[in-house]
Amino acid sequence: MSKIILTGDRPTGKLHLGHYLGSLKTRVKLQEDSTNEIFIMIADQQALTDNADNPKKIQESIYEVALDYLAVGLDPERTTIFLQSQIPQLPELTVYFLNLVTMARLERNPTVKSEIKDKKFGASIPAGFFVYPVSQAADILAFKATHVPVGDDQKPMLEQAREIARDFNRIYQTETFVEPDIILPPKGQGRIVGIDGNGKMSKSLGNGIYLSDSEEEIQRKVMKMYTDPNHIHVEDPGQVEGNVVFTYLDLFDPDKEKVAQLKAHYERGGLGDVVLKRYLNEILQDHLRPIRQRRQELAGNREHILALLKRGSERAEKVAAQTLAEAKDAMGIQYFG
Ligand code: TRP
Repeated sequence: MSKIILTGDRPTGKLHLGHYLGSLKTRVKLQEDSTNEIFIMIADQQALTDNADNPKKIQESIYEVALDYLAVGLDPERTTIFLQSQIPQLPELTVYFLNLVTMARLERNPTVKSEIKDKKFGASIPAGFFVYPVSQAADILAFKATHVPVGDDQKPMLEQAREIARDFNRIYQTETFVEPDIILPPKGQGRIVGIDGNGKMSKSLGNGIYLSDSEEEIQRKVMKMYTDPNHIHVEDPGQVEGNVVFTYLDLFDPDKEKVAQLKAHYERGGLGDVVLKRYLNEILQDHLRPIRQRRQELAGNREHILALLKRGSERAEKVAAQTLAEAKDAMGIQYFG
């Protein structure tokens, strides 16, 4: 069955391998089925909810994220790539949705709860940030998305969007909104470990490999990857578990047999970290080279990127306007016909 797909990213920096495995690859795959209608949103408005004092960062990142999208093979001819802030119907829907959601319900949202802790807002939580799950519901429902490909951490957002769709339809006796299903990343690929072996790959931890990294940067990062701290001499038996080099080989090396051999050799002893890392480096370079090259080709042409976002935003606005009109109609607030 054909799907309507909507997903997006906050533009707060360039995208890394975690984004690539956890979401970008899935999107490119979904794009191969021409019966799917796909909307990819750069969530600049959501990014501002905790970056109000730094719009420059968001502006710059919009461009970087768009480049990352195109570099991995998202095709603006087949996929509508657009900017959240350029669709006024989204905040308008958000305002009506806010009336259907209680403060207590917002306080319970586990994703927001943990973000509030991580971001150290203390008592100064921006109200816009606190309610962003409702704005995210508007993003999804405005396009009548049937499927939303996102990471595990976004499950509560989807749950909330479904609730809002259900409540709106019930209260206003309508079928305007669709309850979307989640599409989770392939098993084990939803959250990948950083090069330091610490938690998940993230910009704030400085442990990421970026789609835009140069060949030298990738190599440097691979060479300092966390392995087995007790594997000191080449002859020593080494540990595979928790060893980031093997985690990445499992994720990126298509030659599973070779990886199994390397693991056995490492555990037996006699396989040095440097040799192993050189091998992983080649595997990663092979993955990232074509992406980086496409990125570089496009990077010089800012006008082209802007034009494409403008076109996508115009298309997206038409769809959102249609849905908003239906919603206002259902609410009985289309006073002037
Ligand atoms: N919250 C998402 C993130 O942190 C971005 C996002 C905004 C989004 N609106 C969305 C994702 C709608 C999926 C659907 O990256």
